[in-house]
Amino acid sequence: MSSYESPVKNNGCACGAPSPYLPVRATIERTTRISETERFFVIKPSDPLLLDYAPGQFFMAGIAGFGEAPISVTSAPGRKETFELCIRSAGSLTNALHRLGKGDAILVRGPFGRGFDLDEMKGKDLLFVAGGIGIVPMRSLIKAVLGGKGYGRLTLVYGCKTPEEMLFKDELEEWKDSGVDVRLIIDTAYPGWKGPVGVVTTLIPDLEIREGNTLAVVIGPPVMYKFVIMSLDKKLLGPEDIFVSLERRMKCGLGKCGHCQINSAYVCQEGPVFKLSELKGMHEAF
Ligand SMILES: Cc1cc2nc3c(=O)[nH]c(=O)nc-3n(C[C@H](O)[C@H](O)[C@H](O)COP(=O)(O)OP(=O)(O)OC[C@H]3O[C@@H](n4cnc5c(N)ncnc54)[C@H](O)[C@@H]3O)c2cc1C
Ligand code: FES
Repeated sequence: MSSYESPVKNNGCACGAPSPYLPVRATIERTTRISETERFFVIKPSDPLLLDYAPGQFFMAGIAGFGEAPISVTSAPGRKETFELCIRSAGSLTNALHRLGKGDAILVRGPFGRGFDLDEMKGKDLLFVAGGIGIVPMRSLIKAVLGGKGYGRLTLVYGCKTPEEMLFKDELEEWKDSGVDVRLIIDTAYPGWKGPVGVVTTLIPDLEIREGNTLAVVIGPPVMYKFVIMSLDKKLLGPEDIFVSLERRMKCGLGKCGHCQINSAYVCQEGPVFKLSELKGMHEAF
Protein backbone atom coordinates (compact mmCIF):
# COMPACT_ATOMS: atom_id res chain seq x y z
CA MET A 1 0.00 0.00 0.00
CA SER A 2 1.35 3.44 -0.85
CA SER A 3 2.27 5.71 2.05
CA TYR A 4 1.30 8.70 -0.07
CA GLU A 5 -1.56 10.64 1.46
CA SER A 6 -3.30 13.00 -0.91
CA PRO A 7 -3.31 16.59 0.34
CA VAL A 8 -6.69 16.99 -1.36
CA LYS A 9 -9.55 16.70 1.11
CA ASN A 10 -13.22 16.24 0.22
CA ASN A 11 -12.23 16.09 -3.46
CA GLY A 12 -11.50 19.80 -3.16
CA CYS A 13 -8.29 21.76 -3.42
CA ALA A 14 -4.98 21.05 -1.73
CA CYS A 15 -5.68 23.66 0.99
CA GLY A 16 -8.48 21.45 2.31
CA ALA A 17 -11.30 23.70 1.13
CA PRO A 18 -14.33 21.73 -0.07
CA SER A 19 -14.86 21.35 -3.79
CA PRO A 20 -17.21 24.10 -4.98
CA TYR A 21 -18.97 21.40 -7.03
CA LEU A 22 -19.75 19.20 -4.03
CA PRO A 23 -22.61 20.23 -1.76
CA VAL A 24 -22.00 20.28 1.98
CA ARG A 25 -24.55 18.89 4.39
CA ALA A 26 -26.21 21.55 6.54
CA THR A 27 -28.83 21.42 9.27
CA ILE A 28 -31.86 23.67 9.65
CA GLU A 29 -31.45 25.12 13.14
CA ARG A 30 -34.67 27.13 12.96
CA THR A 31 -37.28 28.00 10.37
CA THR A 32 -40.24 30.39 10.49
CA ARG A 33 -42.84 31.36 7.98
CA ILE A 34 -42.56 35.15 7.68
CA SER A 35 -45.15 35.84 4.98
CA GLU A 36 -47.64 34.04 2.78
CA THR A 37 -44.84 32.97 0.42
CA GLU A 38 -41.55 33.42 2.30
CA ARG A 39 -39.88 31.24 4.87
CA PHE A 40 -36.85 32.22 6.95
CA PHE A 41 -34.14 29.62 7.66
CA VAL A 42 -31.21 29.54 10.07
CA ILE A 43 -28.73 27.09 8.57
CA LYS A 44 -25.77 25.40 10.27
CA PRO A 45 -23.29 24.09 7.68
CA SER A 46 -21.14 21.10 8.59
CA ASP A 47 -18.14 22.98 7.18
CA PRO A 48 -17.44 26.40 8.79
CA LEU A 49 -15.71 27.59 5.59
CA LEU A 50 -19.19 28.28 4.22
CA LEU A 51 -19.56 31.03 6.82
CA ASP A 52 -16.92 33.12 5.06
CA TYR A 53 -19.36 35.11 2.90
CA ALA A 54 -19.97 38.75 1.99
CA PRO A 55 -23.35 40.52 1.66
CA GLY A 56 -24.62 40.10 -1.89
CA GLN A 57 -23.16 36.59 -2.34
CA PHE A 58 -25.37 33.53 -2.72
CA PHE A 59 -25.43 29.82 -1.97
CA MET A 60 -26.71 26.99 -4.13
CA ALA A 61 -29.21 25.36 -1.75
CA GLY A 62 -30.74 22.02 -2.53
CA ILE A 63 -32.39 18.78 -1.53
CA ALA A 64 -31.39 15.42 -3.01
CA GLY A 65 -33.89 14.51 -5.72
CA PHE A 66 -35.14 18.11 -6.13
CA GLY A 67 -32.01 19.85 -7.43
CA GLU A 68 -30.59 23.14 -6.22
CA ALA A 69 -31.27 26.85 -6.61
CA PRO A 70 -29.32 30.07 -6.03
CA ILE A 71 -30.40 31.73 -2.78
CA SER A 72 -28.87 34.95 -1.43
CA VAL A 73 -27.46 35.10 2.03
CA THR A 74 -29.58 37.39 4.21
CA SER A 75 -27.57 37.42 7.44
CA ALA A 76 -24.72 39.77 8.29
CA PRO A 77 -21.22 38.44 7.60
CA GLY A 78 -18.87 37.31 10.36
CA ARG A 79 -21.17 34.78 12.04
CA LYS A 80 -19.52 31.85 13.80
CA GLU A 81 -21.93 28.92 13.33
CA THR A 82 -24.94 29.67 11.17
CA PHE A 83 -26.10 31.77 8.24
CA GLU A 84 -29.61 32.84 7.29
CA LEU A 85 -31.65 32.41 4.13
CA CYS A 86 -35.12 33.63 3.22
CA ILE A 87 -36.81 31.56 0.53
CA ARG A 88 -39.92 32.30 -1.54
CA SER A 89 -41.92 29.24 -2.60
CA ALA A 90 -41.70 29.53 -6.38
CA GLY A 91 -41.52 25.97 -7.71
CA SER A 92 -40.72 22.36 -6.91
CA LEU A 93 -37.45 22.83 -5.03
CA THR A 94 -38.43 25.91 -3.06
CA ASN A 95 -41.79 24.31 -2.15
CA ALA A 96 -39.92 21.24 -0.91
CA LEU A 97 -37.59 23.47 1.14
CA HIS A 98 -40.68 25.08 2.71
CA ARG A 99 -41.85 21.64 3.89
CA LEU A 100 -38.67 21.09 5.92
CA GLY A 101 -38.42 21.81 9.63
CA LYS A 102 -35.93 22.18 12.48
CA GLY A 103 -33.28 19.45 12.42
CA ASP A 104 -33.82 18.54 8.76
CA ALA A 105 -30.82 18.46 6.43
CA ILE A 106 -30.27 20.42 3.24
CA LEU A 107 -27.32 20.56 0.85
CA VAL A 108 -25.43 23.79 0.24
CA ARG A 109 -22.57 24.93 -1.99
CA GLY A 110 -20.92 28.31 -1.92
CA PRO A 111 -20.71 31.13 -1.12
CA PHE A 112 -20.61 32.19 -4.77
CA GLY A 113 -20.36 35.35 -6.80
CA ARG A 114 -19.15 38.84 -6.10
CA GLY A 115 -20.82 40.59 -3.21
CA PHE A 116 -20.68 44.18 -1.98
CA ASP A 117 -17.37 45.83 -1.20
CA LEU A 118 -18.00 47.34 2.23
CA ASP A 119 -14.70 49.25 2.20
CA GLU A 120 -15.76 51.13 -0.94
CA MET A 121 -18.90 52.24 0.90
CA LYS A 122 -17.06 53.71 3.89
CA GLY A 123 -17.44 57.47 4.29
CA LYS A 124 -20.39 57.59 1.89
CA ASP A 125 -24.10 58.18 2.42
CA LEU A 126 -25.84 54.96 1.39
CA LEU A 127 -29.24 54.79 -0.25
CA PHE A 128 -30.73 51.27 -0.31
CA VAL A 129 -33.61 50.80 -2.78
CA ALA A 130 -35.36 47.44 -2.40
CA GLY A 131 -38.39 46.04 -4.18
CA GLY A 132 -40.21 42.91 -2.98
CA ILE A 133 -37.86 40.04 -2.23
CA GLY A 134 -34.89 42.32 -3.02
CA ILE A 135 -34.91 43.12 0.70
CA VAL A 136 -33.47 39.61 1.31
CA PRO A 137 -29.90 40.29 0.07
CA MET A 138 -30.26 43.96 1.12
CA ARG A 139 -30.81 42.86 4.73
CA SER A 140 -27.35 41.26 4.81
CA LEU A 141 -25.79 44.50 3.56
CA ILE A 142 -27.79 46.76 5.91
CA LYS A 143 -26.91 44.59 8.92
CA ALA A 144 -23.23 44.61 7.93
CA VAL A 145 -23.23 48.40 7.61
CA LEU A 146 -25.09 48.88 10.91
CA GLY A 147 -22.61 46.56 12.60
CA GLY A 148 -19.66 48.54 11.23
CA LYS A 149 -18.31 52.07 11.52
CA GLY A 150 -17.51 54.94 9.20
CA TYR A 151 -20.58 55.09 6.96
CA GLY A 152 -22.53 58.29 6.29
CA ARG A 153 -26.30 58.79 6.34
CA LEU A 154 -28.32 55.63 5.68
CA THR A 155 -31.66 55.60 3.86
CA LEU A 156 -33.81 52.60 2.94
CA VAL A 157 -36.59 52.90 0.39
CA TYR A 158 -38.57 49.63 0.31
CA GLY A 159 -41.62 48.94 -1.83
CA CYS A 160 -43.95 45.94 -1.90
CA LYS A 161 -47.27 45.07 -3.51
CA THR A 162 -49.08 44.87 -0.14
CA PRO A 163 -48.17 45.39 3.55
CA GLU A 164 -48.46 41.60 4.03
CA GLU A 165 -45.59 41.10 1.59
CA MET A 166 -43.32 43.41 3.54
CA LEU A 167 -40.60 41.26 5.13
CA PHE A 168 -38.64 41.73 8.38
CA LYS A 169 -41.15 44.30 9.75
CA ASP A 170 -39.73 44.18 13.30
CA GLU A 171 -36.25 44.77 12.00
CA LEU A 172 -37.40 47.74 9.91
CA GLU A 173 -38.40 49.37 13.21
CA GLU A 174 -35.05 48.46 14.77
CA TRP A 175 -33.20 49.95 11.79
CA LYS A 176 -35.22 53.18 12.23
CA ASP A 177 -34.15 53.24 15.89
CA SER A 178 -30.54 52.80 14.76
CA GLY A 179 -30.79 55.96 12.64
CA VAL A 180 -31.74 54.56 9.22
CA ASP A 181 -34.26 56.79 7.41
CA VAL A 182 -36.72 54.00 6.48
CA ARG A 183 -39.36 54.88 3.86
CA LEU A 184 -41.96 52.28 2.94
CA ILE A 185 -44.45 52.24 0.10
CA ILE A 186 -47.00 49.79 -1.30
CA ASP A 187 -48.19 49.48 -4.91
CA THR A 188 -51.91 50.12 -4.44
CA ALA A 189 -54.22 51.30 -1.62
CA TYR A 190 -54.77 48.65 1.04
CA PRO A 191 -57.09 48.60 4.09
CA GLY A 192 -55.29 49.95 7.16
CA TRP A 193 -52.21 51.21 5.26
CA LYS A 194 -51.52 54.85 6.18
CA GLY A 195 -48.23 55.24 4.31
CA PRO A 196 -47.59 56.33 0.73
CA VAL A 197 -48.99 54.36 -2.21
CA GLY A 198 -47.31 53.92 -5.60
CA VAL A 199 -44.19 52.46 -7.13
CA VAL A 200 -40.92 52.69 -5.25
CA THR A 201 -39.61 55.46 -7.54
CA THR A 202 -42.35 57.78 -6.18
CA LEU A 203 -40.27 58.24 -3.02
CA ILE A 204 -36.98 59.13 -4.67
CA PRO A 205 -37.61 62.79 -5.70
CA ASP A 206 -38.17 63.81 -2.04
CA LEU A 207 -34.91 62.33 -0.80
CA GLU A 208 -32.07 64.66 0.15
CA ILE A 209 -29.10 63.24 -1.71
CA ARG A 210 -25.63 64.69 -1.27
CA GLU A 211 -24.21 64.68 -4.76
CA GLY A 212 -20.71 63.22 -4.92
CA ASN A 213 -21.02 61.60 -1.51
CA THR A 214 -23.82 59.08 -2.03
CA LEU A 215 -23.85 55.51 -3.28
CA ALA A 216 -27.13 53.80 -4.15
CA VAL A 217 -27.80 50.05 -4.03
CA VAL A 218 -30.77 48.77 -6.02
CA ILE A 219 -32.18 45.24 -5.65
CA GLY A 220 -35.62 44.18 -6.82
CA PRO A 221 -37.67 42.73 -9.65
CA PRO A 222 -36.24 43.31 -13.16
CA VAL A 223 -38.99 45.82 -14.07
CA MET A 224 -37.87 48.14 -11.25
CA TYR A 225 -34.28 48.81 -12.31
CA LYS A 226 -34.72 51.07 -15.33
CA PHE A 227 -37.17 53.37 -13.54
CA VAL A 228 -35.16 53.58 -10.32
CA ILE A 229 -31.99 54.32 -12.28
CA MET A 230 -33.78 57.09 -14.20
CA SER A 231 -34.96 58.62 -10.90
CA LEU A 232 -31.47 58.38 -9.40
CA ASP A 233 -30.04 59.99 -12.53
CA LYS A 234 -32.29 63.01 -11.86
CA LYS A 235 -30.70 63.16 -8.40
CA LEU A 236 -27.33 63.33 -10.17
CA LEU A 237 -26.24 59.80 -9.20
CA GLY A 238 -24.25 58.36 -12.11
CA PRO A 239 -23.17 54.87 -13.20
CA GLU A 240 -20.21 54.95 -10.79
CA ASP A 241 -22.53 55.67 -7.85
CA ILE A 242 -25.10 52.91 -8.37
CA PHE A 243 -24.81 49.19 -7.53
CA VAL A 244 -27.34 46.62 -8.69
CA SER A 245 -27.74 42.90 -8.01
CA LEU A 246 -28.95 40.86 -10.98
CA GLU A 247 -30.94 37.61 -10.99
CA ARG A 248 -30.45 35.08 -13.74
CA ARG A 249 -31.22 31.39 -14.16
CA MET A 250 -28.23 29.54 -12.70
CA LYS A 251 -27.05 25.93 -12.70
CA CYS A 252 -23.40 25.64 -11.69
CA GLY A 253 -22.73 28.96 -9.92
CA LEU A 254 -19.15 28.62 -11.11
CA GLY A 255 -18.88 30.17 -14.55
CA LYS A 256 -19.03 26.81 -16.38
CA CYS A 257 -22.55 26.15 -17.68
CA GLY A 258 -23.32 29.54 -19.25
CA HIS A 259 -26.93 29.62 -17.97
CA CYS A 260 -26.44 32.99 -16.29
CA GLN A 261 -24.58 34.70 -19.13
CA ILE A 262 -25.39 38.30 -20.10
CA ASN A 263 -23.42 39.29 -23.19
CA SER A 264 -19.87 38.36 -22.16
CA ALA A 265 -20.44 38.34 -18.37
CA TYR A 266 -21.23 35.37 -16.13
CA VAL A 267 -23.57 36.77 -13.47
CA CYS A 268 -22.74 33.90 -11.08
CA GLN A 269 -19.07 34.92 -10.97
CA GLU A 270 -18.70 38.53 -12.05
CA GLY A 271 -21.96 39.40 -10.26
CA PRO A 272 -24.59 39.16 -9.00
CA VAL A 273 -23.49 42.59 -7.72
CA PHE A 274 -22.39 45.00 -10.45
CA LYS A 275 -21.58 48.67 -10.50
CA LEU A 276 -23.89 50.19 -13.11
CA SER A 277 -20.87 51.41 -15.11
CA GLU A 278 -19.78 47.76 -15.53
CA LEU A 279 -23.02 46.96 -17.36
CA LYS A 280 -22.48 49.61 -20.04
CA GLY A 281 -23.33 48.10 -23.42
CA MET A 282 -24.90 44.98 -21.85
CA HIS A 283 -28.37 45.54 -23.21
CA GLU A 284 -29.76 42.28 -21.78
CA ALA A 285 -28.90 43.28 -18.21
CA PHE A 286 -32.32 44.82 -17.44
C1 LIG B 1 -28.26 35.19 -7.45
C2 LIG B 1 -29.68 34.77 -7.09
C3 LIG B 1 -30.11 34.92 -5.79
C4 LIG B 1 -31.40 34.52 -5.44
N1 LIG B 1 -31.79 34.68 -4.13
C5 LIG B 1 -33.00 34.25 -3.75
C6 LIG B 1 -33.39 34.35 -2.39
O1 LIG B 1 -32.65 34.84 -1.53
N2 LIG B 1 -34.61 33.88 -2.04
C7 LIG B 1 -35.46 33.33 -2.97
O2 LIG B 1 -36.57 32.92 -2.60
N3 LIG B 1 -35.12 33.24 -4.27
C8 LIG B 1 -33.91 33.67 -4.68
N4 LIG B 1 -33.55 33.54 -6.01
C9 LIG B 1 -34.51 32.96 -6.96
C10 LIG B 1 -34.51 31.45 -6.79
O3 LIG B 1 -33.26 30.94 -7.19
C11 LIG B 1 -35.64 30.82 -7.65
O4 LIG B 1 -36.89 31.22 -7.13
C12 LIG B 1 -35.53 29.31 -7.59
O5 LIG B 1 -34.48 28.91 -8.45
C13 LIG B 1 -36.81 28.62 -8.01
O6 LIG B 1 -36.53 27.22 -7.99
P1 LIG B 1 -37.70 26.14 -7.98
O7 LIG B 1 -37.15 24.84 -8.42
O8 LIG B 1 -38.42 26.16 -6.68
O9 LIG B 1 -38.70 26.70 -9.04
P2 LIG B 1 -38.73 26.44 -10.61
O10 LIG B 1 -39.71 25.36 -10.84
O11 LIG B 1 -37.36 26.31 -11.17
O12 LIG B 1 -39.30 27.86 -11.07
C14 LIG B 1 -40.49 28.43 -10.51
C15 LIG B 1 -40.66 29.83 -11.04
O13 LIG B 1 -39.55 30.66 -10.64
C16 LIG B 1 -38.93 31.23 -11.78
N5 LIG B 1 -37.48 31.25 -11.56
C17 LIG B 1 -36.65 30.21 -11.45
N6 LIG B 1 -35.38 30.61 -11.29
C18 LIG B 1 -35.40 31.94 -11.29
C19 LIG B 1 -34.42 32.95 -11.19
N7 LIG B 1 -33.11 32.69 -11.06
N8 LIG B 1 -34.82 34.23 -11.24
C20 LIG B 1 -36.11 34.55 -11.40
N9 LIG B 1 -37.08 33.65 -11.50
C21 LIG B 1 -36.74 32.36 -11.46
C22 LIG B 1 -39.31 30.36 -12.94
O14 LIG B 1 -39.32 31.06 -14.17
C23 LIG B 1 -40.71 29.90 -12.56
O15 LIG B 1 -41.68 30.86 -12.93
C24 LIG B 1 -32.27 33.96 -6.40
C25 LIG B 1 -31.83 33.81 -7.72
C26 LIG B 1 -30.55 34.21 -8.07
C27 LIG B 1 -30.09 34.05 -9.47
S1 FES C 1 -24.55 29.51 -13.42
FE1 FES C 1 -23.25 28.31 -14.68
S2 FES C 1 -22.06 29.82 -15.66
FE2 FES C 1 -23.19 30.96 -14.22
